[in-house]
Amino acid sequence: MSRVVNCSEHGAVAVITIDSPPVNGLGHAVRKGLVKCLSDALDNNMVEAIVVHGADKMFSAGADIKEFGSELAFTPPLLTEVINMIEASGKPVVAAIHGVAAGGGLELALGCHYRLAANNARLGLPEVTLGIIPGAGGTQRLPRLVGVPAALDLIVQGKLNPALEAHNIGLVDELFEGNAADAGIAYANKLIVDAAGPRPTRNQNAHIEAARGKPEIFEEYRLGAQKKARGMHAPLAAIESIENAVNLPFDESIEKEREIFDRCVESDQSKAMRHAFFAERTVSKIPDVPKETPPRKVDSVAVIGCGTMGQGISMAFANASIPVKVLEADQEALDAGLAKIEKTYNSSVEKGRISTEERDHVISMITGTLEYADLADADLVVEAVFEELELKKAIFSKLDQVCNPGAILATNTSTLDINEVAATTSRPGDVIGLHFFSPAHIMRLLEIVRGEKTGADVIATAMALAKMLRKTGVLVGVCEGFVGNRMLLAYLREAYFLLEEGALPQQVDKAIYDFGFPMGPFTMLDMAGLTVGYLIRQHQAGTRATDERYSDIEDRIVEMGRLGQKTGAGWYKYEAGTRKPAADDMIEEMIVETSANLSIKRREISNQEIIERCLYPLINEGAKILEEGIAIRSSDIDVVWLYGYGFPRHHGGPMFWADLIGTDTIHSKMVEFETEHGNLMKPAGLLEELAKQGKGFGDI
Ligand code: 3HC
Ligand code: NAI
Repeated sequence: MSRVVNCSEHGAVAVITIDSPPVNGLGHAVRKGLVKCLSDALDNNMVEAIVVHGADKMFSAGADIKEFGSELAFTPPLLTEVINMIEASGKPVVAAIHGVAAGGGLELALGCHYRLAANNARLGLPEVTLGIIPGAGGTQRLPRLVGVPAALDLIVQGKLNPALEAHNIGLVDELFEGNAADAGIAYANKLIVDAAGPRPTRNQNAHIEAARGKPEIFEEYRLGAQKKARGMHAPLAAIESIENAVNLPFDESIEKEREIFDRCVESDQSKAMRHAFFAERTVSKIPDVPKETPPRKVDSVAVIGCGTMGQGISMAFANASIPVKVLEADQEALDAGLAKIEKTYNSSVEKGRISTEERDHVISMITGTLEYADLADADLVVEAVFEELELKKAIFSKLDQVCNPGAILATNTSTLDINEVAATTSRPGDVIGLHFFSPAHIMRLLEIVRGEKTGADVIATAMALAKMLRKTGVLVGVCEGFVGNRMLLAYLREAYFLLEEGALPQQVDKAIYDFGFPMGPFTMLDMAGLTVGYLIRQHQAGTRATDERYSDIEDRIVEMGRLGQKTGAGWYKYEAGTRKPAADDMIEEMIVETSANLSIKRREISNQEIIERCLYPLINEGAKILEEGIAIRSSDIDVVWLYGYGFPRHHGGPMFWADLIGTDTIHSKMVEFETEHGNLMKPAGLLEELAKQGKGFGDI
C-alpha cells in the first residue's frame, strides 16, 4: 500500500484513493501506487468492480508539471501504461470525480469504463495552455466519447467545463451530489447487479467513423486556432493528433500522440507557458509576509475621485459585491462619474455580458457622497484623484482624521512617491499603493506598492483583495512608474527613436504584433490616449540630462490636438465611429521632417532590429528593477507584463524570454546599442554580471 494512493474494500467494490496533496498530481509515486492498488484489486477474487477517486479537494489536476523535463517523467510506469491497464481490466472501473479532473486526471478517467461527476465538478484538458497536447490518450479517447467537434472544442480551447456540460456531451455518465467515494461505490454495486462489464473507450468507434473523410472539420478548426491563438503551436498540434485519431488505428495514433506530446514538451513555447503557470502562483509568496499573516477585513470600501480610474475601481469592487462609497469634489463631477458607471453597465447588458438583475445589483453597490464623514467606517479607501502630490497629501491628512483605526489607506498614483503621501498621516503603516490598470474593472493586473512603513498585514490584505477582485496582485516597491510603466517607458522611448531613424508607426506596430503582443506601441498609445504620457514627460523635463537623447515626436502630435482614438486621430487616423487605425500621410511627413531636422539619414530598419531595440532595453530596465529590489523576483516582472501589457504568454514574459535568448546575447547587444545610441542603453550591472557568469534571471 502506497502513501499517495490507498486502496480499501467495500463488499465487492475496491476503492482506490489518490491522496497526493495539493492537487493529486499524477507524479511517479502516484503512478506506481495506482499500478500496485489496481493489481491488488484485479488479483483479489472478492473484488468485482473498482472505483477510482481523489482525496481532499479534487479528483486530479493531471500530470505533475514539475516532473516535465526530468528523468521521473520517463520512469515507468508512464501514465499511458497506467491508463491502458485500467482500460484492459476485466473488472469494470468507475471514475468518481469531484472538484477538478484536468489534463492527465481526466485522461485517467477516460481510461475508466464509467465516469461519474459531482454536480459542481469541472472537467477539461487544459494542456494547450501549457504549450502541450494531452499526452496520455486524451486526443484519442475524448473524441470517441463525445464526438470530434466537441472534442476539438474542449482540447483546443483548453477550458475546464462544468460537470453538467460534460454530462450533456456524453463525457460523464451520471452526476451526483455529495461524497465521491460513496457515489462511486453505489454506482459500482449497480453495475455488479446489472452484470454490466468493462466498456473500454478505445473500442467505441462510432463518432470516429462519422468524422472520417471530412478534412474540412479540421481545416476550419485550424483557421480558427491560427486566429485565436496567434503564434501558438500547441492548438495546431492538438488538432493534428485528433485528426490522427480519426484516420489511423488506435495503437498507431496513440503512439503518434506521444511523439507530438514529446515534441511540444521540449519546445520553448511550452517551457515559457509552464513558466507562466508557476510564475502566477509564485507571485503571492512574499518572503517577509508569511502566508499565515491574517488579513484585515474588507467589507466596505471608499473611492476618492470618480474620473476614469475611480469609476473602474468602483466597478471592480461592486462586481465582487463589495459596497463602495465614491467621493467627488463637487456634485457635478459626482453625477457625471456615476452616470458614466451606469452607462458602462448598461452597455454590458446590451452586449449580453450581464443580465439586468446583475446590473441592478452592481449599481446598488455604489453610492456617491461629497462628505468625508461618510467614509469613517470604510475598511479600505482608494484615492484616485488627479496626479498631483499636494492634492493627494491633503486628501490623506483628511483621511487620517476621519477614518476608523485599522482602515487601509491606498493610493492609485502611477508616478508619485507613496512614502511622501504616507508621511502626511499618523499611520504610515496603513498606507499602500494599489495601482490599478485602465480599464480598472477589466484589467487583471494590480500592482501592489509597498511603502517603507507599510504593515505586513496590510500587504497580506491587498494580496487577498486582488484575488477577491479576480485580479493578479504583484507586490512591487516604490520607484517612478513602479515595475510595469517604468519598463514601458524604455520600450516606448526606443519606439520613438526608431521613427526618427527610419521606421514608421505601422512598421513598428506590425513587428511587435507579429512577435505576439495584441497590438504595437503606437496603436496602444492611441487607445490609451496620449495626454497622460505628455504630462509625465513635461513633468520630467527639468530632471532630464541635457546630453540625454530625447524624442519630442509624440509631444508634437499631442500639441496638434491629436490625443488618440478618443479625438479621432493620434498616431493614426480613425474613421468616425471606428477604432481601426489607418496610416496617416500627415504623420509620415511629420516623422520624415523630424529626421531631417535632426540631421538623421533615414535607413531601412528590419523587424528583428525593432524587436531588439524595443524589448532589450525593456529587459535591461527589468534588470535594474531587480537590482534595486523593486520586484521580488524576475518571474514577478513576467507576471506584470503578461497581465498588464499583453506580453505573449508563449514567450513567458520579458525576463523569461531573455533567459531563453541568453543574458550574454542581450548584454552584448546592449553594449553595441550603447556605443551606437548613447548612455540610455548602458547595460544594467546585473545583466552584465549574469552574462559573465553564464546565468539567467531565473537563476537568481
Ligand atoms: N502539477 C504540478 N503542480 C501543480 C499542478 C500540476 N498539474 N496543478 C497545480 N499544481 C500546484 C500549483 O503550482 C500550486 O502549488 P503551490 O501551492 O506551491 O503554489 C498548488 O498545486 C495549488 O494549485 P492552485 O493554486 O492552482 O490551486 P487552485 O485550487 O486555485 O486550482 C487547479 C486548482 C484548477 C487544478 C489548478 O491548479 C490547475 O489548473 N492546475 C493545472 C491543470 C493542468 O493544466 N493540468 C494538465 C497538466 S499536464 C498533463 O496532465 C499532461 C498529460 O496530458 C500527460
Ligand atoms: P481623471 O482626471 O479621469 O479623474 C480624476 C477625478 O478626481 C476627477 O473626476 C476629479 O473631479 C476628481 N477629483 C479631483 N480632486 C478631487 C478632490 N479633492 N476630491 C475628490 N475628487 C477629486 O484621472 P484618472 O485618469 O482617473 O487618474 C486618477 C489617478 O489614477 C491618478 O493618480 C493617475 O495617475 C492614476 N492612474 C491613472 C491611470 C490611467 O490610465 N488613467 C492608470 C493608473 C493610475
